[in-house]
Amino acid sequence: MEPMSLVALPTQDALLAALAKVNDPEIRRPVTELGMVKSVSVDDAGHVALELFLTVAGCPMKDTLRKDTSAALLRVPGVVSVDVALDVMSDEQRAALRTQLRGGVAEREIPFAKSGSLTRVYAVASGKGGVGKSSVTVNLAAALAAEGLKVGVVDADVHGFSIPRMLGVTGLPTQVDDMILPPISHEVKVISIGMFVPGNQPVVWRGPMLHRALQQFLGDVFWGDLDILLLDLPPGTGDIAISIGQLLPTAEILVVTTPQQAAAEVAERAGSIALQTHQRVVGVVENMSWLELPDGSRQEIFGSGGGKTVADSLTRLIGAPVPLLGQVPLDAGLREGGDSGTPIVLSDPDSPAAVVLRAVAKGLAQRSRGLSGRSLGVSPVKR
Ligand SMILES: Nc1ncnc2c1ncn2[C@@H]1O[C@H](COP(=O)(O)OP(=O)(O)OP(=O)(O)O)[C@@H](O)[C@H]1O
Ligand SMILES: [Mg+2]
Repeated sequence: MEPMSLVALPTQDALLAALAKVNDPEIRRPVTELGMVKSVSVDDAGHVALELFLTVAGCPMKDTLRKDTSAALLRVPGVVSVDVALDVMSDEQRAALRTQLRGGVAEREIPFAKSGSLTRVYAVASGKGGVGKSSVTVNLAAALAAEGLKVGVVDADVHGFSIPRMLGVTGLPTQVDDMILPPISHEVKVISIGMFVPGNQPVVWRGPMLHRALQQFLGDVFWGDLDILLLDLPPGTGDIAISIGQLLPTAEILVVTTPQQAAAEVAERAGSIALQTHQRVVGVVENMSWLELPDGSRQEIFGSGGGKTVADSLTRLIGAPVPLLGQVPLDAGLREGGDSGTPIVLSDPDSPAAVVLRAVAKGLAQRSRGLSGRSLGVSPVKR
């Protein structure tokens, strides 16, 4: 008698090879590598039975996992159907996974503070609130991720935590014991202090608590190998900036200001913190520089010159060139992008504001670490 089908039954190896192409949606590593495949087998009729270990019970990504693994197995010739059963890792399995993810180091440490770290860390600072620090941060992050870089953002503004909304993050971090898996949106990994505050209550945290919280963000969160980590600092020259200096000595400061002279003076103070903490200032972004009117002319609503003033005085103060990286015009689309969770660099990449922000991002992307004072490869700002 003729066999029903000419396709041979898939081997165990073929099934595992297919599963090796499926990444855990949060950890972003193959499920096979993470010890998540409990068993996989196929019967004579081509029906596959897969058992998966979830890292935690109630894993928010379990449906995605189910779908992705089924789809991968169904692509293997000879597979007719797939049944996925879910189990949960034991404490021992989770501990092993944690150690594996930390590169064999069981103990908590801040990966970006290690001397061999290739992650470039930029702390986005401003003197005043409301100058667009968070908007600049999320747009740079999204633009960098769109360039193919692996990007993480820490919302270190404990009183603001606007970053998740601006990046359209809806999920909460998943906790695997004491390790935190950050939610991902627009390919950017995002952690905000707001994610750990029940019901969006206002946070009144003092220095040591902030320091501890930051340490936790940086040490307990599984970031993977990031190319760039952006930190959205709270406005002013407060404790957080000092903490960053201690926890992340290689972090470089990116100062955001408006063109207004008063804003420029306080921004300059925020930048000069870098002197105390021995950090480098990568440059200045001027935001809300002008409004382009229908006739093409520019209305300078917040005055002019603030960005250049800050760049020049920080250059003098620090004794190393601090460039003005870009001037971002006022743009209703930029605010709408923040409200809707899709940064303007993605939703309207050719708008004037997005073009400037993408150029700044490109400059940061091309820059290798520790080359302060070198040209960022962005062309000088024309007025
Ligand atoms: N270039 C721009 N054009 C139009 N609106 C902008 C621009 N930059 C920022 N905004 C809007 O201004 C407001 C303040 O911006 P944002 O929240 O980014 O500032 P911030 O410096 O992070 O503020 P905070 O100090 O409160 O954290 C937001 O509503 C944002 O959408
Ligand atoms: Mg903010």
